[in-house]
Amino acid sequence: MTPTIRQIQLPDAEPFRACLDAVARERRYLAQVEALPIERIREFVESSVASDAAQFVAIHDGRLIGWCDVFSHWAHALQHVGTLGMGVLDGYRGQGIGERLLRRTLAHALEKGVYRVKLEARSDNARAIRLYERVGFRHEGIARAALRFDGRFHDAVQMALLQGPAAERAI
Ligand SMILES: CC(C)(COP(=O)(O)OP(=O)(O)OC[C@H]1O[C@@H](n2cnc3c(N)ncnc32)[C@H](O)[C@@H]1OP(=O)(O)O)[C@@H](O)C(=O)NCCC(=O)NCCS
Repeated sequence: MTPTIRQIQLPDAEPFRACLDAVARERRYLAQVEALPIERIREFVESSVASDAAQFVAIHDGRLIGWCDVFSHWAHALQHVGTLGMGVLDGYRGQGIGERLLRRTLAHALEKGVYRVKLEARSDNARAIRLYERVGFRHEGIARAALRFDGRFHDAVQMALLQGPAAERAI
């Protein structure tokens, strides 16, 4: 299966919300357990399109089946820092779609001057962590009790990828 990977567009707001909502309702991978109301998502997509943000979607047979985004920070000294979020609908995972989405989004983030991409993943989310490692993210720490689902705490791994000038600096 080779879905189209492209930047998000305004008409994607509803299908994007549906996809996000389905992954959120799994109550396992994302911090949110349902998507925000459509009005909020529409505003979010509008601002993303207007700012040419690094937000990409995967489309298969006309259906939006995954997304990946990196949003950068507003504060001056943090403008090179972006936070990554992504998801692929259950049933479409493990076929390389996440990796394609991720690489496209990172390349666009780099063009926009995002040189440090950070994320947190629940520490038992092995598939996501392996994917991030494969594209070059490094482990930076553990956020203890970072997530709470149904009364149970979960640690999260903190990972980051340096690209562009940030990757060239001495580490
Ligand atoms: C994490 C997530 C986005 C990854 O997306 P994905 O499409 O499943 O990722 P990929 O298919 O690119 O990579 C996953 C596996 O598929 C394998 N794969 C890659 N290309 C493949 C191909 N062409 N055919 C078959 N398998 C392939 C990879 O080797 C990888 O295997 P591994 O995990 O055993 O190493 C997805 O699983 C997901 O949505 N999970 C729930 C939400 C989530 O966790 N979001 C991230 C929160 S931090």
